[in-house]
Amino acid sequence: MSWHASVLTLFPEMFPGPLGQSLAGRALRDGRWSIDSLDIRSFATDRHRTVDDTPFGGGAGMVMRPDVLDAALAAALAAGPASDRAAPDGAAREPAAPAPRPAVYLTPRGRRLDQAMVRDFAAGPGLVLLCGRYEGIDERVIEARGLAEVSIGDYVLSGGEPAALVLLDACVRLLPGVMGAAESGIEESFSDGLLEYPHYTRPADWQGRAVPPVLLSGHHAEVARWRQAEAERITRERRPDLWAQHVANAGRDRAPSA
Ligand code: ADE
Repeated sequence: MSWHASVLTLFPEMFPGPLGQSLAGRALRDGRWSIDSLDIRSFATDRHRTVDDTPFGGGAGMVMRPDVLDAALAAALAAGPASDRAAPDGAAREPAAPAPRPAVYLTPRGRRLDQAMVRDFAAGPGLVLLCGRYEGIDERVIEARGLAEVSIGDYVLSGGEPAALVLLDACVRLLPGVMGAAESGIEESFSDGLLEYPHYTRPADWQGRAVPPVLLSGHHAEVARWRQAEAERITRERRPDLWAQHVANAGRDRAPSA
């Protein structure tokens, strides 16, 4: 069973969207991952296919109904890998059954997505992603379904769909066999907690700007030293938070283990 994403959305035609192209698109066609999108509206039960209502307590905006969202989540979990389904009463789970897929609600108030979280999601069986409208969803469905709340950054999108695409892209590129050697190198460099060093290609002189001579020297060790120093400089200058983390980790790695 390959890594499987189910997306619950009012705009199912947005998926796979850009993920049908390029690296993720090729991996999708190769069966390294799969995706289905479910239209939340199809789980509404009334004549008008209502998915939201006015907030209790008053105020602006609409809130998505917990009963409709719960029915959509139940359908997504039932359609996923067998392990997403609860084992029948009294029946022992197959010992080799993979863990059920985490159900994630994309929201600006969620935990900020980072590469460590992406690695965890990519290492699992897949994801069930709930895209709400910005005003929000009824709190009780978050509690009842144990939804993990994830944000892709401190800004507000008009809906969770672009955030779901971002999260999926970040996961899919880490799946086995998706990245070639070139892209894997970039992942390795990020995994040491540093930003990328600068890259150059031909022409060696462009508009009076020369490529740093060390890169033309043919000295592999010196090139590696220069790249490391540049990655450290750029991280220190642009992201003091990442730099502090990197320094703390390096200290820990050097600490005696006994
Ligand atoms: N929905 C709206 N804004 C979002 C954000 N920043 N991250 C995740 N989901 C969102």
